[in-house]
Amino acid sequence: MRLGLSVYADAQAVARAVADAWVRLAREAVEKRGRFGVALAGGGTPRPAYELLATLDFASRAPWKRTHVFWGDERCVPPDHADSNYRMAREALLDRVPIPPENVHRVLTELPPDEAARAYAQTLQRFFSPGSPPRFDLVLLGMGEDGHTASLFPETAALEEHARYVCANRVSQRDVWRVTLTLPALNAARHVRFLVTGRAKAATLARVHGGEPLPAARVDPDNGEVTWLVAAEAAALLPVRLA
Ligand code: 6PG
Repeated sequence: MRLGLSVYADAQAVARAVADAWVRLAREAVEKRGRFGVALAGGGTPRPAYELLATLDFASRAPWKRTHVFWGDERCVPPDHADSNYRMAREALLDRVPIPPENVHRVLTELPPDEAARAYAQTLQRFFSPGSPPRFDLVLLGMGEDGHTASLFPETAALEEHARYVCANRVSQRDVWRVTLTLPALNAARHVRFLVTGRAKAATLARVHGGEPLPAARVDPDNGEVTWLVAAEAAALLPVRLA
């Protein structure tokens, strides 16, 4: 797999690269197709990027009225729970920019996991062309130390799901349920940006770069591009130089 990868000095430089890419791709999508569909990453890594995107310098240049926000995955907790990916994005970004509330498409985690997944799949069907894969203009993804991305954890059912674009996933490693986009959905995207920071991810990133088929390595859009935005400490074991 050809790994599009850029290395940055630190996590803040990665955040700036994400915010720059968001503004550029959002303006391009709106110009070409009249709207921008983006799937957010959860976890902790993207928070600085969302907070930077909410600052005037970036937010003033993004087409919020034509932006539609989704999530690559969600924890099956209430939307105001400390672990909620929706809550993190709402606090870091969505409450601070003029995006219409109807353009924020969260996973309805008040429902049981399977029902939440079905409802989210219907949300995607309504936004994208029914029957074809949801083709996001931009998908933001993180990577766990085990090589998972979104909630596609190693040896879990959702990782091998090839019919549905969304499903509930029992993650036994953490004794939790998640709702996640599947590889067919992620690989239908126009643009994918992985955000990887922290020394703890260096060994896993080297495994991905070395060709090991970890879940994150299996995101390689058929008709799109994937670029890894990596902080230097996470790239420490890679044979690359700073961007
Ligand atoms: C989640 C994320 C998950 C995350 C990785 C990395 O819901 O947790 O979608 O895939 O991106 O676990 O998490 P950190 O950014 O916190 O290291």
